[in-house]
Amino acid sequence: MRIAVIGTGYVGLVTGVALSEIGHVVGCIDVDPNKVKTLSNGIPTIYEPGLKEMMLTNMGRGRLFFTSKHSEGLDHADVVYIAVGTPQRADGSANLDYVEAAARDIAHNITKSVIVVIKSTVPVGTNEYIKKLINEETPAGIKVKIASNPEFLREGSAVHDTFHGDRIVIGAEDLETADTLAAINAPFKMPIIKTDISSAEMIKYASNAFLATKISFINEIANICESLGANVEEVAKGMGFDHRIGPDFLKAGIGYGGSCFPKDANALVQLAGNHHHEFNLLKSVIEVNNHQQVLLIDKMLTRFGGTLKGKRIAVLGLAFKPHTDDLRESPALVMIPKLVELGAEVVAYDPIAIENAKKQINGYIEYTEDLHIALHAADAAVIITDWPDVKTIKLSTYNQLMNTAILFDGRNCYDLSDVKEASIEYYSIGRPNQAPELIS
Ligand code: UDX
Repeated sequence: MRIAVIGTGYVGLVTGVALSEIGHVVGCIDVDPNKVKTLSNGIPTIYEPGLKEMMLTNMGRGRLFFTSKHSEGLDHADVVYIAVGTPQRADGSANLDYVEAAARDIAHNITKSVIVVIKSTVPVGTNEYIKKLINEETPAGIKVKIASNPEFLREGSAVHDTFHGDRIVIGAEDLETADTLAAINAPFKMPIIKTDISSAEMIKYASNAFLATKISFINEIANICESLGANVEEVAKGMGFDHRIGPDFLKAGIGYGGSCFPKDANALVQLAGNHHHEFNLLKSVIEVNNHQQVLLIDKMLTRFGGTLKGKRIAVLGLAFKPHTDDLRESPALVMIPKLVELGAEVVAYDPIAIENAKKQINGYIEYTEDLHIALHAADAAVIITDWPDVKTIKLSTYNQLMNTAILFDGRNCYDLSDVKEASIEYYSIGRPNQAPELIS
């Protein structure tokens, strides 16, 4: 098959490269000529394990190319994927400007009938609207079929997830279109769910909203555990053995972030509201998450007698999760300005996200890619991202480097018994505090 992919962001690039890997000829189109130049030189514009190698191999095979000209990318294409961004508007709804622009570019440049596949996460009903928009603007005689094929990729394991995901969802207007897309995706060797377009669009939102709900649920349980002296990790373990609940996404912490959960949860609340449904459950999930992101600030204030003035605080991790330099909706973006506002002296550590952080965090803070420098002479440390080097640091290092070894762990990185042995004053999420007598 000849395939065009519009948008070489995170989803588009991974999709284009993966489709070329399974044998299709793929033209990836992006309006940004600089991006296209970089990609054409074999340099991926995002970091994903395994992506670069796969990209270079398929460029070498002549199955993958990049262009900023729609006419070039769409030439002879049988199927066109739209994989552009749908950022959040101020009111929480999804901004469809880029999807509409891509639809118009398709309409003005195709020379034969095609299937248009929407990969971008779009509100239910968007596929139908986009189909109408394209068909209104295409020359007579050319017909466009539309399909929804949402992605479920996690950042940092997107290539792995593309080849080893749980399912592929195809929402199509007729069986022939669904079968064509199923055939395109067959080499991925995954269960394929064929359904109607609206249901496919909803599967994506409902899945992300449900996963966000699991996280907020366990975070609420964690907060109750703290008051009751229970340990949320034991509770999650005990719950997870029930196969109806499952062990995944029950890790308590300082809340979910990233490019999907916050945006999609807000968009679903908005979408439901537009159709006169108050999605109160999901509203609470969002509220719990917002509170969870600042929980450690309250704990710090309690510990330091109501003020952080002059305290040197080491913030360990800036990215919303490990193995990415992405700060979108990271708790760091909420925590750091609050710490600065409260008069703390902030030194932030992250192995790869500092450049992105500098663009998004205002105010004077120090940055370092060296964990030891971050901890040096600090009055407290707060863990935001469970980077492997943070998780595997020798606990005695906190005692050796810090002014006072007081740790606020937003990701429950350490065993309580190890912490006790290391004599660190330790506050985590949903677990008993550890305050050795010599410190408290
Ligand atoms: C997510 C979905 O997993 C993916 O299917 C969808 O397509 C996009 O959104 P991603 O944003 O890359 O992927 O991150 P994920 O690994 O799912 O984690 C999201 C957030 O939830 C992170 O901030 C993470 O720290 C947090 N999380 C996850 C928890 O706090 N507890 C958990 O148990 C799991």
